[in-house]
Amino acid sequence: MLVNPVKRTYLALESWFNISFGTQWNPLYHLGTLSFFLLWVILVSGIYLFIPFHGSLAGAYNSVEYMTHDQWYAAGIMRSLHRYASDAVIITVLLHMFKEFASGRYRGFRWFSWFTGVPNLWVIVTIGITGYWLVWDELAQYVAIGSARLMDAIPMFPGAMTRNFVAGEMTDRFFILIEFLHLLGQPLALVFMLWIHVKRLSNVEINPPRGLAIGTFIALLVLSLASPAVSHGPADLSTMPQVINLDWFYLNIYPLLDVWTEGQTWMLTMGITLLLIMLPWLPPKKDGAKALVDLEHCNGCGLCFEDCPFDAISVQARTDGARFETEVIVHPELCGACGICAGSCPSSNPFRTPKGDLKTGIDMPQLTVDDMRKKTNEAIAQMDGDTKILIFGCDHGLNVNRLDSNDTKGIRLMCSGMLPPTLVEYALKKGAHGVMVTGCRHNDCFYRFGNRWTKMRFEGERKPILRGRADRKRIRVHGGSETDKNEIEIDLNAFRAELVKLNQTEKNSSGKLN
Ligand code: HEM
Repeated sequence: MLVNPVKRTYLALESWFNISFGTQWNPLYHLGTLSFFLLWVILVSGIYLFIPFHGSLAGAYNSVEYMTHDQWYAAGIMRSLHRYASDAVIITVLLHMFKEFASGRYRGFRWFSWFTGVPNLWVIVTIGITGYWLVWDELAQYVAIGSARLMDAIPMFPGAMTRNFVAGEMTDRFFILIEFLHLLGQPLALVFMLWIHVKRLSNVEINPPRGLAIGTFIALLVLSLASPAVSHGPADLSTMPQVINLDWFYLNIYPLLDVWTEGQTWMLTMGITLLLIMLPWLPPKKDGAKALVDLEHCNGCGLCFEDCPFDAISVQARTDGARFETEVIVHPELCGACGICAGSCPSSNPFRTPKGDLKTGIDMPQLTVDDMRKKTNEAIAQMDGDTKILIFGCDHGLNVNRLDSNDTKGIRLMCSGMLPPTLVEYALKKGAHGVMVTGCRHNDCFYRFGNRWTKMRFEGERKPILRGRADRKRIRVHGGSETDKNEIEIDLNAFRAELVKLNQTEKNSSGKLN
């Protein structure tokens, strides 16, 4: 299977970061939570800065100068932290976008998170713009004039903003409006937008791993000490600012006004926004068949509800008169068709009906648990040799059929999380000498939690657990993407060598017993 070049580039970047940071602290696995962390740094440093800040045209510049130079050891550092965390959040949000795009996690049922993500980016950028305005230095003046030109080009308020100050008449009233927007209006809008952004996801984490947070904070602090944020000269509306050290993360639109009209600049901005917003439908993606509940086999335990990454399952009072109190229902419009629910259902147990079809409480029409059991039986029957290895892999990681050989057969699932742990036990009982489970890279599951739940189920940390009778030495979990064939193959060979030894030891000890 050909991996598209955008995804290949992203995966290469991720591997490279894995070497530097390790998989646990790789920032590329935590871009959303890292963005949240940076927003906290911005908020806390912003609250500190608000205390000495003088919110008037006459006092703003001097108060910022006081913080930067006289109180450099406290407010000055806070200012720099505020500045650098703001720049960093643009980087993490852009990378977060790129990652979701490159991995295809923005289309089909996932349109909502993408669609609601775009406004977050613009809200952050406009918070930065009003922030630069508050310093009321030459850069602020440059931003103010550029913003006034852009606003005045909107038919709704022609000339209104320019009149406010360009004729040397910027008023305190207007300045306070900008202050209100920066300190309250825009941050509240961001919180609201972020809440909507993650609303369709379950178990959303908003904190990055502690080590990554501490490392990020130290990096920001070092940068703040090495290169403190400073102002330009004070704003003077009777002259044109000759600057300017632009913050390209936030103010990149303004230089365009030197060469383009306001209308053209708006068209570019709106065009990019529209393109980003429409991306999930260019072209539209059809989701797989959605999970189906079979009440006859559902006891309402709610494990699928807890494991669903997309909040697509809820628990309600029983409707079929069965002796159980609750049942689950699937909301098809939210379902990602990953099958993690089928993997979590205790009735997805292949030992239950040795002969007839296996029915389970919740299942995927396109690949039922019964289908998985049949494929397991077929694959075991097709293998020869003394170390038969069955590999379960997900469609978003390496195509495991590329590892097929006489003694190795792969079975492809929608997600590794759809594999019921009892099926691994079943495969070992039916003649596989070893079972390998692969999927996406750890921390990077296409369906958010598939490989994490699998690992936890196997380690007995999450229900349904892999039972004690399954020989752990014969089970291997190796996360890896489409491009990680070599690494997976190396681990597979090591696993095979371990199984050979294990088989030998077992043969010897059974020989001794006889
Ligand atoms: C401050 C800005 C943002 C923050 C703090 C943020 C944070 C997050 C978080 C925490 C998640 C959940 C990740 C998970 O638990 O798997 C998420 C998901 C997502 N974000 Fe953002 N995000 C931001 C902006 C954006 C932007 C600008 C876009 C794209 C336009 C975007 C696209 C997505 C998508 C598509 C998902 C869904 C991923 C999935 O379904 O697994 N986000 N975001």
